[in-house]
Amino acid sequence: MTGSAPGIWIAVAQSRDVGRDLLACDAAGRKLVLYRRESGKPVALDDECWHRLLPLSNGRREGDNVVCAYHGLAYGPDGRCVSARLGRPPPAGAKVRSYQAAEWDGLVWVWADGNAAVAPGETAGGAVRIGSAQARLAPECGEHVKGRVPDSKDGSAIMQAELEALFGAYRDAFIERAASAAAFYSEPCVTARAGVVRVHPAQADLAAFFTEVDTRYRQRGYTRFDNVTFAWQGLGANSVLVTIHWVYKDREGSPIWETTFSYNLFKCEGTWKILMQTMHDR
Ligand code: FES
Repeated sequence: MTGSAPGIWIAVAQSRDVGRDLLACDAAGRKLVLYRRESGKPVALDDECWHRLLPLSNGRREGDNVVCAYHGLAYGPDGRCVSARLGRPPPAGAKVRSYQAAEWDGLVWVWADGNAAVAPGETAGGAVRIGSAQARLAPECGEHVKGRVPDSKDGSAIMQAELEALFGAYRDAFIERAASAAAFYSEPCVTARAGVVRVHPAQADLAAFFTEVDTRYRQRGYTRFDNVTFAWQGLGANSVLVTIHWVYKDREGSPIWETTFSYNLFKCEGTWKILMQTMHDR
């Protein structure tokens, strides 16, 4: 990760998602494989076998080592190849990059460059940058929180802040130009509104859909909307369900109408995308 994110701890996964099985994730533009040693300590390696650059995450864990699924090279937590197939000695120089990994605040953190002088949470004065643009680009199993020190009490609060920032940006995009709200959605995407389920096969269709929605809203006098409740629930690595109660307001800020939406989000290539949107009532 040198160059892209030097000298910072990056939260790459929630602790509960890292176990004895291999977990692939993106972090600051790198593909990583995460797992735990027998002792429970997390391990982070480049998810790329030295032999043919194939993903180690397709392999299996054996003790503290990870064994490549393709030709059986096994690597230790420090990234050094410890054996080849059929117990043969490792090829000279066979190694994958390993990263210093630590756990703090319900998250697994990886030091982006070399060895950290301090553990995550032990430094003082830094701040997690959770601006809307950054939060939008940050993957949940990846750089979903970037910075030297988390500024919240726990990982849930960090995630909440990230998702609130995302939906703040979503709301602003919608108010400015409805079509830009479509950028927060993936394709294909499913919307369910007032009992009508609609599949949007392509981004152009999504943009047309939101333009139509925006036109209807504005005809009814809505010029802005705010959320009054916001709840989210993790659905495993890279997936989350967000439920928001929105209040739609007129030019003077008086509420006209309110309703609840749920959004299924998935992290696609480092960006949260909405895969499905459900309107709970009219
Ligand atoms: S690609 Fe991993 S051992 Fe060949």
